Amino acid sequence: MSLVSLVKGRRGASGFGYASTAMEVTAGLDLTGRNLLVTGVTSGLGLETARVLAHRGARIFGCARDQGRAAAALAPLGDGHVPLACELADPASVRACVDALAQRGDRLHGLIANAGIMALPAREVRHGHELQFLTNHLGHAILVLGAVGRDLLADDARVVILSSSAHRRAPRRGIEFDDLSLERSYTPWGAYGQSKLANLLFARALARRFAGTRRTANAVHPGVIFTNLGRHMGLAARVLGPVAAAIALKSVHQGAATQCYVAVHPSVATRNGEYFADCDVATSSALGRDPALAERL
Ligand SMILES: NC(=O)c1ccc[n+]([C@@H]2O[C@H](COP(=O)([O-])OP(=O)(O)OC[C@H]3O[C@@H](n4cnc5c(N)ncnc54)[C@H](OP(=O)(O)O)[C@@H]3O)[C@@H](O)[C@H]2O)c1
Repeated sequence: MSLVSLVKGRRGASGFGYASTAMEVTAGLDLTGRNLLVTGVTSGLGLETARVLAHRGARIFGCARDQGRAAAALAPLGDGHVPLACELADPASVRACVDALAQRGDRLHGLIANAGIMALPAREVRHGHELQFLTNHLGHAILVLGAVGRDLLADDARVVILSSSAHRRAPRRGIEFDDLSLERSYTPWGAYGQSKLANLLFARALARRFAGTRRTANAVHPGVIFTNLGRHMGLAARVLGPVAAAIALKSVHQGAATQCYVAVHPSVATRNGEYFADCDVATSSALGRDPALAERL
């Protein structure tokens, strides 16, 4: 048996593992009456997450850069879902999304902060912030804190933040507080790593604020999946990606499993402040477990 098939076949304490799909980890669940917000519903893991959770009966609040894209992504899921414009790299757009949610008056049972960009070859700055930090972390932080502040989360709401094992590629000190936009030391993976470490630390800090309530906040590494996320990588990666995907990477169905599991499975209803991979609690880097760093962020 090859190493790849050994890893792929492994199941953890949850009974699920590397190869489990989002459909498998939600099998038998009836999510009727649950309002679940997913960012980045136009592509990859967000699209699959929305599809599977809608299939189980949830009403999807699907966020995309603009209303048209969100509506187009949700159309195949049937009636009753809610498309929302939320350009994460534009704080005004994210605040308008929170306003739109507040005007509807629905309370969310889950918020899956899934959208993201990765490894931009050159440093890009918008609204004074490096674009990956702005999109992946700050945009989602404004969305989540807006939802908390406007009381848009149900009493048992679960916040699921997409991090990545690439949080380990953050700069040596973790978050460069005195050079947040990495003006002095930009690298594509260092910047992505910093943003994904920020995602993880944000989930941990939010979890501390949820302690003693029924609300939870957790972070997720979905695995490595060939999606549009790699659009900024070199030609070789884009050409070899489909080959690697066929041999060794997770499929999109498998990649969406952990976030769906953490968002809705009854067995993790009280898990709070954890980092999940392959549908089980995993160990992050030491920086990813540093409460002082999380509070400072
Ligand atoms: N794929 C992997 O191997 C992997 C590994 C570890 C972690 N992750 C994480 O998993 C998450 C989903 O990634 P994926 O693989 O599904 O990537 P993907 O296929 O590229 O999808 C990313 C989604 O985010 C949206 N998005 C990007 N920038 C945005 C912005 N400024 N405002 C609003 N939406 C924006 C995209 O919308 P557009 O289509 O309009 O650009 C798209 O819907 C990301 O957070 C990523 O960091 C992925």
